[in-house]
Amino acid sequence: MARDTWFETVAFAQQRAKKRLPKSVYSSLLAASEKGITVADNVEAFGELGFAPHVIGAIEKRDLSTTVMGQDISLPVVISPTGVQAVHPDGEIAVARAAAARGTAMGLSSFASKPIEDVVAANPKTFFQVYWLGGRDAIAARVERAREAGAVGLIATTDWSFAHGRDWGSPKIPEHMDLRTTVRMLPEGLTRPRWFLQWAKTMRPPDLRVPNQATRGEPGPPFFAAYGEWMATPPPTWEDIAWLRELWDGPFMLKGVMRVDDAKRAVDAGVSTISVSNHGGNNLDGTPASIRALPAIADAVGDQIEVLLDGGVRRGSDVVKALALGARAVMIGRAYLWGLAAEGQAGVENVLDILRSGIDSAMMGLGCASVHDLVPGDVVVPPGFTRALGVPPEGGDQ
Ligand SMILES: Cc1cc2nc3c(=O)[nH]c(=O)nc-3n(C[C@H](O)[C@H](O)[C@H](O)COP(=O)(O)O)c2cc1C
Repeated sequence: MARDTWFETVAFAQQRAKKRLPKSVYSSLLAASEKGITVADNVEAFGELGFAPHVIGAIEKRDLSTTVMGQDISLPVVISPTGVQAVHPDGEIAVARAAAARGTAMGLSSFASKPIEDVVAANPKTFFQVYWLGGRDAIAARVERAREAGAVGLIATTDWSFAHGRDWGSPKIPEHMDLRTTVRMLPEGLTRPRWFLQWAKTMRPPDLRVPNQATRGEPGPPFFAAYGEWMATPPPTWEDIAWLRELWDGPFMLKGVMRVDDAKRAVDAGVSTISVSNHGGNNLDGTPASIRALPAIADAVGDQIEVLLDGGVRRGSDVVKALALGARAVMIGRAYLWGLAAEGQAGVENVLDILRSGIDSAMMGLGCASVHDLVPGDVVVPPGFTRALGVPPEGGDQ
């Protein structure tokens, strides 16, 4: 009998990922930083929000489709870029195929394990994500490669703060699998035979390289070499963002905005989209949940640019809450990574299906015909929930 691979919630995908992955790979997906305050708040804050459903008035057919960065998507959920390697041999190709099969777009991390050309071939709705790494010339070369590959949007992620300590211990990830490392990791691999076999079948061990940091056709530098170069690069300024925006004349997202003043400066720099995000709680621990910061930012700039949100989305109802509070769509990170770890492409499709049916069911309860009709009155926001960051106090300077 065929193995039943379907799972009913993202929590099951996470459980399965935990069972399937070696401990070090699983903990690199959990990520987060310091005490884990932000990563926990991202998820828990959604739980503090409620709904105000109707008893009568459900719409028979709900329309979940929208557009993000010029792309038609069949549900308001986009794949957020993640630079995680070794989760699955098919990596971002499996994710791209799943996103394409479910009619949505994908952000490809510059720390991804697959070349952008292959990812665009699997899903033409691909946005390339850049970090400020190596200075303008190096960044321009990467952007040019993405353009030639057919990327339809650019995502600039500038919120990384190089926080490396975790109270629960950081995973020891090897740079590549030489004989010594293979022997060291063997006990972990042997307790996870399925993961081990997946890689054994490809006849090549996980190789932590970042092909999109190099020119087309080259294997790219090792992950940690690229990371070191990034740490050594002076951080970007708003002028750099305006420069990058000019270089890329298509849809352009600044990811990691948490403050109203930054959102306004992003508008001034000419970006077309922002994601209200704290990088999934992987940065400056103590930053509030992104959903708490969303309403003030959406109020301030939502009529000028597209406002997305990412961080803590695990259910379709979370997506609906974010949309009701002003997001055009959300992006997901860990949810699809767990799906990928659990069942490869099918696992990512399963996660997107869970979110779709959760959105649909919440919209039915709220009597909503289209994702564009969701309004703040659809959700119950407890007093003190929101955080308007970067707003001058009444009558004074900041
Ligand atoms: C393991 C991991 C790796 C990530 N790598 C990147 C990256 O390379 N580029 C980027 O812009 N964001 C990266 N992110 C952040 C995600 O794009 C996204 O902001 C975050 O995962 C959203 O939170 P969620 O995981 O709760 O959905 C990463 C997140 C995780 C968990």
